[in-house]
Formats: sequence, C-alpha cells, structure tokens
Amino acid sequence: MARYQFHLRFLFVVLFVLSVAAVGQPKHVYLTYSDDPATSIDINLLIVRKSPGVSVYWDSQPHNGEKEKYAHCTEATYYKTVLEILDRRALYVAALKNLAPGQTYYFIAGDEKNGFSEEKSFRTMRGGMAPFRFVTGGDMNIYPRTEKLAKLAGEQDPDFVAVGGDLPYANGLFAEYNDWDEWFRIWNTYIVGRDGRMIPIVAAIGNHEVNSYESDNIELRSPFFVSLFGRQGESIYFSRKLSDYAVLFVLDTGHLFPHDGAQLDWLKTEFEKFKDVKYKFALYHVPLYPTHRPYEGPASVAGRTYWGPLFDQYGLTVGFENHDHVFKRSKPLRGNQVVRKGTVYVGDGTFGVEPRTVDPQPRWYNEKEGSIAHFWVVDVTPKKVSLKAIDEDGKTIDAFSVR
Ligand SMILES: [Fe+2]
Repeated sequence: MARYQFHLRFLFVVLFVLSVAAVGQPKHVYLTYSDDPATSIDINLLIVRKSPGVSVYWDSQPHNGEKEKYAHCTEATYYKTVLEILDRRALYVAALKNLAPGQTYYFIAGDEKNGFSEEKSFRTMRGGMAPFRFVTGGDMNIYPRTEKLAKLAGEQDPDFVAVGGDLPYANGLFAEYNDWDEWFRIWNTYIVGRDGRMIPIVAAIGNHEVNSYESDNIELRSPFFVSLFGRQGESIYFSRKLSDYAVLFVLDTGHLFPHDGAQLDWLKTEFEKFKDVKYKFALYHVPLYPTHRPYEGPASVAGRTYWGPLFDQYGLTVGFENHDHVFKRSKPLRGNQVVRKGTVYVGDGTFGVEPRTVDPQPRWYNEKEGSIAHFWVVDVTPKKVSLKAIDEDGKTIDAFSVR
C-alpha cells in the first residue's frame, strides 16, 4: 500500500512539473522587423493569456537566463488580436531600438505570472555597405519535407528568412490553428543560426492565409497572418531597407489588397523613394511568370499589368515568386520580353510542399525549370548578388549572379 501511495505521489509530482512547464513559457517567441534591421528587432511573444508586465530582459552578453543580470529590460506592448478568441493566447511585442549593427544579443522573455523563456539570442544585420545573406522560399506547410528544408535553410546561417506566402496552410481558419503551432515549432527548431541564434522572419501573404469570410476587416479575413505578421510595415505590403544598397518590397498579390489601387499608388512612391538604391528585390506570392499554372491566370496578368512596368522602369533586380510549387529561374525580362539586361524572376515556392509538374519544354521566359522542392540562398554584396537554389538533399541545383 505504501509503495502504491509513493508511486501515486510521484505521478502527481511529475504531472505538476509538466503542467507548470507547459504554462511556464510564452507559447511562441518569434522575430520580425518593423524598422532598420541593423539597429532594431521586434521580439513577438504569444503568451498563454493576457498578463500584466510582459517584458524582455536583454543584453549583448549571455546570462543563462538569470534575469537580474541582463543590462536592459523592455516592457512588451500588448496588441489586441482575434487570436484571444481562440484560446486566450495574447500577443505582445517588444520593439528593441538603437541596437548596435552586427551584434549578437541575448534575451529572456515572458512575465512573472506565467514564467519566462529560456535564454535566446538574435543578431542584428550589419547594415551600411556590408554584405549580407538571406534565404527565401514560399509554400512551406508542415510536412516532413518542410522540416528537412528548414534545417538546411538554418544551416545556411542567413541574416533572415523571407517567406513568400502560404506558411502553414491554415487557410485563415480558427479550426486549423494547430497548424500554426506546428509551423512555429518547425521554425524555432530548425531555422536556427549556426550559433543557435533565432532567425528573423520576413513574411508576405499567400492565398492560404485568407478565408472566404466577406468583411472589410482584414483581421477577420486573415486572422493569423494579420495578427502575427501585420506589424512589419504600415500595411500588409511594405518595404524594408536591408542595407545602404539594397531594399526589399514585400507585396500582396491580391489576397487582402488588389494589385492596383492603393497598393499600386504606394508602390510607385516607394520605387521613386528608393530609386537610387542599387539592388531592389520584390517578394510576393503569385508569380508574374508562372511555371506550373497558366500564363494567363488572372493574378499573374494583374502582376504583369500593374507591377511589371514599375519593375522595368526602376530596374527590379530579382522578383521572388511563389505559389506554383516548382523550381524556376527566368531569363532576364523587360517589357514581357527576353532581354540581355532585365529582371530575373525566381521561384516558384516549394519550401516544403510537394513539387508540381512543369511543361515538357521550358516556357519561353524561363532559363530553367524543374519539379524540385528547394529554397533560394541570396548573397548580396555592393558588387553583385549571387543566388543559389538548394534542394531537399542539400544539393545546389542552380547558381548564378547578377551585377
Ligand atoms: Fe499559393
């Protein structure tokens, strides 16, 4: 009997420890940018429920989670999101500013009531004229292939990863929220720098982030994406200056905002504002030059009609395209024609999903195509942009550079 009671008591202790561990940390911690990536970072926290005093303790030195040793404490701002209707999870963001470029920082995040995370780290970009590296791909989902590619992406040790829409395929539905939890688990497990640092996410919206509910409120049409990634810029579409010589435009191919109208007006202004920046990149979901779906697909036509002329006029360096679930590299294009010097479009979003078929002959605008899961690694220096595509076995399947 005594032995039985001991076992029972032991079981209760284990259950108690497990339950404390389960609520003892933010559900998810992830990094985004809403300002200069060389001097700022947004530490996003999904806390189990609304709580006073959610904070980030941080320093340029590691302190193994000993809270009082960190030199700085920033209180995180609470943002009201519809995710609280799901299971009370509440979003907080600590926007760290005035950081040193190219510096690794260590932090713990959480609150007194629910507990703090273990120590995590991130690195600011170097900014200025320094070289940098990013990984990009889209259409991830939460498959074993996603994990494989995510691990390989982390091993590239990028400054950040830019996702071109269709993240976990949760379709803007509350019923599929588990997919987001799994997607964050994959990201935080595998998309990690060589020194274990967290890798910031730059995210564009895809069709699988949006439901079919008719509303003017974009948070109801895309509850997860808008709640989690809606603060990267002033809208869902935004631009991010990556250094003194490179800028990235993150666009919405008609999922919440049409290609024309306000987004087009904004894009004209942005291109004009950044016209002297040497390298201009664009990240978006539906390709202008699709490689599985038809060339005359309405969203592809809209992209070529409204954005194509601006890409040509201001000399977009590379367009990062997704959605078609294949590998492709276009020829240099301008005015919908193959030219010697023009924009190269790469894609098309197979960062986890099963690759789709390509035509027996490459399309007229493509240099290369393939039914191959992959992501792109982009190395940017003031002299050139080098791109390589890596498949799920870690093999380089394409490499080229533009000046
Ligand atoms: Fe898609």
